[in-house]
Amino acid sequence: MTRIALALVLALTLVAGSASAERVNLLCSPDLAWCEALGPAFTEATGIPLEFIRVSSLDALARIRAEAANPVFDAWFGGTGDPHLIAMREGVAEMFIPTVWDDLIPELKSVINEEYIPLYAGAIGFVVNEEVLGDLPLPRTWRDLTDPMYRGLVGMPDPTSSGTAYTTLATLLQIFGEEEGWEIVEGIHMNVAQYTSSGAAPGQLAGRGEIGIAVQFMHDGVKFAAQGFPLTTYAPEEGVGYEIGGISLIANAPNRDAAIQFIEWALTPEAQAIAGEQGESFQIQSNMNTVQHPLAPNFDEINLIDYDFDRWGDPAVREEVLNTWLNEIFIIPR
Ligand code: F6P
Repeated sequence: MTRIALALVLALTLVAGSASAERVNLLCSPDLAWCEALGPAFTEATGIPLEFIRVSSLDALARIRAEAANPVFDAWFGGTGDPHLIAMREGVAEMFIPTVWDDLIPELKSVINEEYIPLYAGAIGFVVNEEVLGDLPLPRTWRDLTDPMYRGLVGMPDPTSSGTAYTTLATLLQIFGEEEGWEIVEGIHMNVAQYTSSGAAPGQLAGRGEIGIAVQFMHDGVKFAAQGFPLTTYAPEEGVGYEIGGISLIANAPNRDAAIQFIEWALTPEAQAIAGEQGESFQIQSNMNTVQHPLAPNFDEINLIDYDFDRWGDPAVREEVLNTWLNEIFIIPR
């Protein structure tokens, strides 16, 4: 091969190499509108193209695990924290300290023992359509939700796909302990009209009047109310668990450098503000310098439980919870 031909081959190889590295394939677990807005803003800021698919938290973890030997995705944006923690512990995601680390809210980092990168926080609650409940009283406690007067009026997501639902089960088991906790889960199950695969969907059903009470993250209830649905969002008296949504680099990501650039960008106040600008996502953003949206539920006003992220993020504990729910609760006819 002549020197010129060799130089040409080398140049082409370099161009092809850099072109293939300059993209981000994203798994995105929050609201679709937020996911859709990320790509154009990131590409504008960095020139790097981004493509995403929207997948619920536990489905995203399943996908990352299944593709671990040959990863397709580079980064995972949002979704409840437990599966991010599991992904880190199993080595299918990789922890790194982003440059904005010191700007992230210290409590969000410390309660998860700095095992993954916090993106946002949100608390579980009740989202109620009072028009549907009519003369029925509003449920004020978790136990109220087990009352047969609410039969067919409750909606919650499916814990085998949705991180919201897993957070709800973990919340009940932490507040009431194993025995009473499962008894309450069973009582709620008897009243459930529909299990949805994504965490936010029950609020939509409540908004449309198909059910009366959705159990989900409060920020999702606030979103549907902001869209004009007749919904009231509040926390039950015994308290509520919460999520610290994560953002993670997939281990052996095909576009590792671009993925790191994406994560660094996504944690900036400018990028985090995109969440609320869509009128869809009102979680508390993790960067102290992000101007929180006025509709974001204020943690200081919510009775939060002392959620044990270490225990409930343990893969064996999660497996046991999901198996119990599937084999002992979900099978009960209602
Ligand atoms: O809709 C947004 C949101 O509630 C996030 O705050 C949360 O991390 C995610 O959905 C959970 O979705 P899912 O329950 O579908 O896994």
